[in-house]
Amino acid sequence: MDELISELTLEEKVSLLGGQDFWSLPEIPRIGLRSLVMSDGPVGVRGTGWAPEDPSVALPSPTALAATWDRELIERAGQVLGQESRRKGVHVLLAPTVNLHRTPLGGRHFECFSEDPLLTGEIAAAFVAGVQAHGVGTTVKHLVGNDFETERMTVDVRIPERALREVYLPPFERVVRAGGWGVMSAYNGVNGSPMSSHRELQQRVLKDEWGFDGIVVSDWRAARDTVGAALGGLDIAMPAMQNPWGAALVQAVRDGLVPEAEIDDKVRRVLLLATRVGALGATPEPRPELDGPAVAHEVAARSYVLVRNENFTLPLEPAALTRVAVIGALAMDARVLGGGSATVTPQHVISPLEGIGRALSGVDVAYAPGADPRPFLSPARGPEWTGLGVDLSGRHSFEVAEAALRWIGDLPGGLRPEEIDRITISGTLTPGVDGEHTFAVSGFGTFVLAVGETELYRGSLHPTGTERGELLLSPREFRATVTLPAGVPVEVTLTQTIAAGLAHTVNTTLGHRPPGPGDAEMITEAAALAAESDVAIVVVGTTEQTESEGFDRTTLALPGTQDELVRRVAAANPRTVVVVNAGAPVLLPWADEVAAVVLTWFPGQEAGAALADVLLGVLEPGGRLPTTWPRRAEDCPVLEITPRDGAVSYDEGVFIGYRAWLRSGAVPHFAFGHGLGYTTWSYDELRVADGMAEITVTNTGAREGREIIQVYVRPTAPDDTRPATWLAGFATVTAHPGERVTVRVELPARTFQTWTDDGWQTVPGDYEIVAAHALDDPRLTSLTRP
Ligand code: BGC
Repeated sequence: MDELISELTLEEKVSLLGGQDFWSLPEIPRIGLRSLVMSDGPVGVRGTGWAPEDPSVALPSPTALAATWDRELIERAGQVLGQESRRKGVHVLLAPTVNLHRTPLGGRHFECFSEDPLLTGEIAAAFVAGVQAHGVGTTVKHLVGNDFETERMTVDVRIPERALREVYLPPFERVVRAGGWGVMSAYNGVNGSPMSSHRELQQRVLKDEWGFDGIVVSDWRAARDTVGAALGGLDIAMPAMQNPWGAALVQAVRDGLVPEAEIDDKVRRVLLLATRVGALGATPEPRPELDGPAVAHEVAARSYVLVRNENFTLPLEPAALTRVAVIGALAMDARVLGGGSATVTPQHVISPLEGIGRALSGVDVAYAPGADPRPFLSPARGPEWTGLGVDLSGRHSFEVAEAALRWIGDLPGGLRPEEIDRITISGTLTPGVDGEHTFAVSGFGTFVLAVGETELYRGSLHPTGTERGELLLSPREFRATVTLPAGVPVEVTLTQTIAAGLAHTVNTTLGHRPPGPGDAEMITEAAALAAESDVAIVVVGTTEQTESEGFDRTTLALPGTQDELVRRVAAANPRTVVVVNAGAPVLLPWADEVAAVVLTWFPGQEAGAALADVLLGVLEPGGRLPTTWPRRAEDCPVLEITPRDGAVSYDEGVFIGYRAWLRSGAVPHFAFGHGLGYTTWSYDELRVADGMAEITVTNTGAREGREIIQVYVRPTAPDDTRPATWLAGFATVTAHPGERVTVRVELPARTFQTWTDDGWQTVPGDYEIVAAHALDDPRLTSLTRP
């Protein structure tokens, strides 16, 4: 490696430390180095474009991956992403996200695993092992403290040292020590220094103390300080735009501000990564491929958490059903992914309605939208539309199934951003009904929207002073209505003008809503349908404007009139099953009034098929909560995440998640680890010896099942500075009725340690080891001493 480095000029070396575009590093053919390509992200491999012609397998959201508590399954999920990366020519996947669920208001809560650092680290390590098995790199992100989005580019997060070591850093440490090849540093600062220049955390802790030999890549446009970042342990600054390195870094080395040895160390890391992922030297051997959609289906079913099941309403018995009501806008148009950089375009999405309809072929499955929580109009699509297509400055045109365009980086048709200044989306609408049709434009740039001869809009949706990146994540929408007669075709054209060179980032939608009933009428129709059905399945959830990267939530309530919808349906039919389609906790004020509640997170592309399997008992809902679900928002330990004077202080220290709930005494709606299955278990025996807990359980129910055995530890000596209980380990078991199984769960030395001024110290004394079904459902205890 050093020989290769010595062949490079300083300019060449520095060129390897920064993006040549949005997603890749430059090649240097002279030394056999190919361009190293990176791509998001946590649930699917987007590739360097975002185009529908290059779809990606979409797994369930990271909250769902964690809800499986299943390392083996998540390793397979990682393998699917590894093989997808290979297929798309991606060398490094920008995932997993291991920031913590400090508050349910965090906009990227759905993209992080858990409120518990151990569960987060275990799931992340399994994910990374799976991806890297294909010779594809990962970047565990965002080091560290990016647990909310408000002012994320600049905020200084004040985290006490002990909380950093015991709570926020351990997931990164777990992945690094297990052999992760990359880390992404966060936008925010920590304790006074921007993370991309944070020498203490990136160099001293990550590289020197943990022995990390991989690369630290900046978050996109996070690195702003040439010398600070170079000396601060950062290795790659991304992307090319607004990059502080390049010629400025070459100059800084020449001026003696950055030792060339620092540059060589970074280049060595880049070349080592290139070797690992096959951008230098041999390409990694291909591995046997898994069936991506099948894995997505399995993960979804195992992630669904059955939090309530009165009188064994579930599973449903198909032979006993004549008519099933499926209710809710999201039942037809499920939200399968969270918003932001984790978004991919799946090849297909199986909606709850479609999945249930397919599984119950002999049953009358009737649909009513009930309530539509989506604040933006859906893209124009469906049978009323023909010839929906896109034209890019007359240079490339293509058909689309729906009138929404989104990409960052590569453009469709291989065009370069400078080649385009106009995007046209057009199609013919033949209205099915007379009346007021609503049209919408969303995106950024300047637009003209015409419906037939009528010009509905001409103007800019880009408020001055707003960053393009911010608008990409939260675009503005304009709406107008036109009265149209049924059966008469009308041409609809949306033309967008883009400034030269800026067409690398596009997020444009032509929305359409035909005339229809208002919310109150839709709810009444849904309740009437429920009343005449054997079972009502109501799908409620959040929208892209609620849960996304780029902003935090302002409320935990379900958007729109969904709470009222559930109440009215439940009043009409006692056998009401509510399916919650949200990536993060939401309030379920009607939960005690309905027969069953299943949390399905953002379930990925196989959403509805997995849902049907779980509702009908083909599969057991396998999930357990990776995070506490509150009954009332005000009980949540942290709700204040708006920076004051540019800073947010984690004053609660190590008390986040259930550690904080246990301290405050507030009772959540559903505790950490909670989740019901379709069988029952007896916990027969717990033995603790030599840093190992051995647990024997028996499946006492009537069907095969799977149990997640959770092991908690409780110090017996009162100590206000430590949580009352924390998770020490877990294991999954499967057993037939009557079968008895024994598992071993390691209790790592760290379980009994705390971080002090002198580093990690074991706290002596008696500890209770608890084998539990959930945090609030302990089954067996045993005493031990570390
Ligand atoms: C996100 C990262 C992501 C990057 C590239 C950033 O805005 O914070 O998680 O990997 O964009 O899309």
